[in-house]
Amino acid sequence: MRILLMTSSARGHAIADALKHSPQHPDIVSIATTANPGIKELAEEQFIERSLTNLDRLLLIAKRTKPNLAIIGPEDPIAAGIADLLEENGIPTVAPKKMLARLESSKGFARDLLQKYDIDCSPKFKVFTKENSKILNNFIEQELWGEYVVKYDALKGGKGVKVSGEHLATTREGITYALRCIEECGQVVVEEKLTGCEFSLMSFVDGSHVIHCPLVQDHKRAYDKDTGPNTGGMGTYSDANHSLPFLKIADVERAKEIQRLTVEALQHEFNPHPNPLPLKGEGICYKGILYGGYMATRDGIKLIEFNCRFGDPEALNILSILDSDFVAICQGILSGELTEEMVRFAKKATVCKYIVPESYPDKKEQLGKEVRFPNIKRESRMYYGDISQDPDGTLRLGTSRTVGIVGIGKTISEAESIAQKLCEQVQGPVRFRSDIGTHALIQKRIDLMRRLRSAL
Ligand code: AMP
Ligand code: GLY
Repeated sequence: MRILLMTSSARGHAIADALKHSPQHPDIVSIATTANPGIKELAEEQFIERSLTNLDRLLLIAKRTKPNLAIIGPEDPIAAGIADLLEENGIPTVAPKKMLARLESSKGFARDLLQKYDIDCSPKFKVFTKENSKILNNFIEQELWGEYVVKYDALKGGKGVKVSGEHLATTREGITYALRCIEECGQVVVEEKLTGCEFSLMSFVDGSHVIHCPLVQDHKRAYDKDTGPNTGGMGTYSDANHSLPFLKIADVERAKEIQRLTVEALQHEFNPHPNPLPLKGEGICYKGILYGGYMATRDGIKLIEFNCRFGDPEALNILSILDSDFVAICQGILSGELTEEMVRFAKKATVCKYIVPESYPDKKEQLGKEVRFPNIKRESRMYYGDISQDPDGTLRLGTSRTVGIVGIGKTISEAESIAQKLCEQVQGPVRFRSDIGTHALIQKRIDLMRRLRSAL
């Protein structure tokens, strides 16, 4: 069994680690943009490419190495159509085709799909183009009361969303940004600004079956107490009961239902013969990982965005406690025969804290500086991100997130304490968020949800 893995990050290291824990003992061929030392250690072959969107070069490597299947980590190659190309060349690929990946690459497509199929989880929104841009002011002021979010309608590395009161001070600023988005990608989504607690739900999808992972909460702000600029995610936690402390059972069920209804909606949308629907992942259907970013609000569960891939760092939490064969899960996704029994997670809590260079995300001042790590024990994991290794083994910082350290425990508090102690032992010009997974921060979320619900 030979698996082609396209990704560089700590998420990629976590995927490679899960593959290597499979009883099928696959060989890994890695294509990545950097020589991730963690993936390098696990892969039989490692190819470094400047970009993962040069599809012709990726196909060349795939044809030469002849994998049994491919797994794609980041969104850019998925949105560019890597799954279409590999499948045309006989390589089954764990990622949706370009048309279906519009769920992530076009926020307008995602919102319109939810509306068309009556999946009630969107805030009030409107898609604007040049034609209706004159009513932007009216929509923001009269319908959203100045509480709005402007969303770039294409991939932008997590930097396309601007929120009023945070990134946009006035309606005028919002309109200017919205018009720029229209200029650059033809349309823009403007929607109501929601208040609540965000969480991530990732599901394995084989076209028709949607099997869920434990829920995870990410922390995007750079500094403690959720302050500072947004980052790719500074850390995450998950609970032993696979829910989150601020959610009710009904919230979790609703998020799962939204994922399932969305997969069904995609099947209807792209298969011209609606009755009966293609079974067992036949026809044009979503295969891969579906990641829903949700917000629990006073008015129930709302969808913030869909991603067509594993979250980073969310993947580090869930793959650390995966108890079943990840290769078999990938095979199930591809064959359309994925079952609940194939996807088992330990009833453990996890806390992941990212070690990042001191000046991340604003500057790149620590590039090339040496960093040293403590030994990792059974109840923890360490996944390499943007880090390089000299021939003598010395590890050096890149400019982005360095290493994700995951503590695993019976409770979130136990997992937090394991991750925190390890992070404190890292030596080098780095920092991390001490508050992720702590009782104080989680209680803040519980209190916020209580306040929102009692205001009803
Ligand atoms: P996205 O790229 O859609 O996940 O948006 C990035 C971040 O913007 C999210 O994680 C939220 O914190 C924020 N955001 C997006 N949509 C909304 C919304 N409708 N209301 C409030 N915050 C939002
Ligand atoms: N953790 C956020 C993301 O992967 O998009």
